[in-house]
Amino acid sequence: MNRIPVILDGDPGHDDAIAWMLAKASPMLDIRAVTSVCGNQTIEKTTYNAMRVCTLLSVGCPIAMGKPTPLMAPPMNAPSVHGQSGLDGPKLPEPAMLLCELRSVELMAKVLRESEQPVTIIATGPQTNVAALLLAHPELKPKIGRISFMGGGIAHGNWTPAAEFNILVDPEAADVVMKSGVPITMSGLDVTEQALIYPADFERVRAVGNEVARVVADWLEFFYEFHRKLGYPGAPLHDPVAVVSLIRPDLLQSKDLCVEIETKGEYCRGATVGHDRAPANARVNLGIDRDGFADLLVEAVRAYGEARV
Ligand code: BDR
Ligand code: CA
Repeated sequence: MNRIPVILDGDPGHDDAIAWMLAKASPMLDIRAVTSVCGNQTIEKTTYNAMRVCTLLSVGCPIAMGKPTPLMAPPMNAPSVHGQSGLDGPKLPEPAMLLCELRSVELMAKVLRESEQPVTIIATGPQTNVAALLLAHPELKPKIGRISFMGGGIAHGNWTPAAEFNILVDPEAADVVMKSGVPITMSGLDVTEQALIYPADFERVRAVGNEVARVVADWLEFFYEFHRKLGYPGAPLHDPVAVVSLIRPDLLQSKDLCVEIETKGEYCRGATVGHDRAPANARVNLGIDRDGFADLLVEAVRAYGEARV
């Protein structure tokens, strides 16, 4: 099988980490680089978390530190959701690798230049690194097959009534991405809040019995605790949908739309305005087969091996 070369760019983060677990488990994807971005926590913390997650998952590609701040806005973190470490909960292995000497933009550029096939970028945090890449190396746009990102929401936001966290943190970056002309898939709150993993599913994951299964089940419990208090019946696995979109598009319903980013609004900064009054610039995922997604998650965890008895 011709695997899709991918770069994982994110701010792990429980749902980023689970997205990376799905990506590594899939025989369809070939992870060429991992880059951290400042979002759920500071760049130091998300980079450390990226290295710990990649150690757990045995991801062997280079890992580079991303931009320490959004393009123009001051940084904004989410300790209420992911904890002070950015990935609170189960104990993780210490990094088994060294950080790449290149920073994120230069590592991404190198991977793109050296790849014979177009590379897909899976962005699960603020889009600062991706925008910086597009601004610094516009000549490499044809080497990007697609940007599949989690962010935004056509119908509503989560951090403000109008804006979702990843877009709100760096609306200027999202604006650069949406105007880039590169093929884009957006998985926003419209679909990710339907990607609910219930407590009964946590137990199916845990029952797989391997080390990754145990950690993922603990991450799900931690992530759910925040959402349970808000009235969610399960953990909304936002970031994994950006991976599902590549490996199991049959689980998703989507629509092509023109998505524009509000960068100036007093009340609506960071909103993703979707419409059909101009040519579409994104495939927007809007619905998901939840049960199929839960089954995919359990299968993915099983790919890390059977339990040792
Ligand atoms: C997004 O915000 C982050 O906290 C999650 O990791 C996800 O990428 C959801 O709004
Ligand atoms: Ca994230």
